[in-house]
Amino acid sequence: MKNILNVIGMIKKRMSKIKLFDPYTDKFEKIAINRVLESKFWASGAGNGEVKKFEKKFLKYVNSKSCVAVNSGTAALNLALSTYDIKDKEVILPSLSFVATANAIIENGGIPKFVDVDEKTLCIDPKKVLNSITNKTKVILPVHFGGFSSNLVEITKICKKNKINLIEDAAHSTGATYKNKKIGSHGDLVCFSFHPVKNLAMPTGGLISINSKNYKKIEKSLKEKRWCGITNRKGVDYDVKNIGWNYYMNEFSAAIGLTQLKKIDRLNNLRKRTAKIYFKKILLENKMPFDNECSYHFYWIRVKNRDEFREKLLKKGIETGIHYKPIHTFSLYKSKIKLPITEKVGKEIVSLPTHPNLTKENIEKIIKTINNSI
Ligand SMILES: Cc1ncc(COP(=O)(O)O)c(C=O)c1O
Repeated sequence: MKNILNVIGMIKKRMSKIKLFDPYTDKFEKIAINRVLESKFWASGAGNGEVKKFEKKFLKYVNSKSCVAVNSGTAALNLALSTYDIKDKEVILPSLSFVATANAIIENGGIPKFVDVDEKTLCIDPKKVLNSITNKTKVILPVHFGGFSSNLVEITKICKKNKINLIEDAAHSTGATYKNKKIGSHGDLVCFSFHPVKNLAMPTGGLISINSKNYKKIEKSLKEKRWCGITNRKGVDYDVKNIGWNYYMNEFSAAIGLTQLKKIDRLNNLRKRTAKIYFKKILLENKMPFDNECSYHFYWIRVKNRDEFREKLLKKGIETGIHYKPIHTFSLYKSKIKLPITEKVGKEIVSLPTHPNLTKENIEKIIKTINNSI
């Protein structure tokens, strides 16, 4: 009987759809959720309990000066950009990103200045960044695309020389490194997302990692802003000096995050193993490079006949995605700007699964189906 059930289980697994994203969990997430559930302490604007523990552990993990947990990557970007007065100032960013990257600039009264990406990595091209700097430029906001680190050496040089702040969108990059240092330990402010599809998954969550000299002041201000501007709490009394939001992380997310953080390196190694095989075996010229420092949130390829191609894969039970429709093509952001590489890539890019639940058979099936569909 047990054998039959095992065989049925195996057949079911083979027949089931291969998802693009699929968070990895084990018994420890269940234990963590129950612990918080039974404690009846589910959230606090002050960020005590599991949230504080998560911030401490993440700080140690990335080795930065301070970490402030929030309730999404979007909140992290909004708050990070609010740190510098960007009203009517320009923020340089790639258009090939999730729209939240640019929305955060508008939200803070700034002007998004899109520049093209490097065709090899699909990260912002430092040469084009340099050419886009004006006396209104206040922040450079690179996105580590798919977990592949942007050229931070060049970008940091540009920032220092021109007295510009560096905020990184590291939504895809938990566990990634650049020059052997964890992403989170480089730019002035580094924004992470812990959305369920991300390398470190929570129901919802984000974090700002701080490396600036005046990190204590920034940390205090970010903590006030993540809870409605509340400051100087003494017992039940408090003051509000500046505007703030409900951006604090809840205890369930933090508790899950703590369990996920323990296994992030192991899970990222599985993603890298998958990416390495894709890089070797997919018979396409245009594909994501292999780099052991990348966290491989997903793996991208470029194909000419995208709709047809994705349909063929879907028929074989393989889910794929499109990351991203370039932001400067949305109605809200439409301008006369031309970004030839981004526009070409935006029409051809397909994202493939790299999540840790992929089996060897899944990976072989994906490669075989791709190579038969191009
Ligand atoms: C590049 C990038 N930036 C920001 C975000 C926003 O993160 P969140 O969904 O946690 O708000 C995402 C999420 O998909 C993202 O991919």
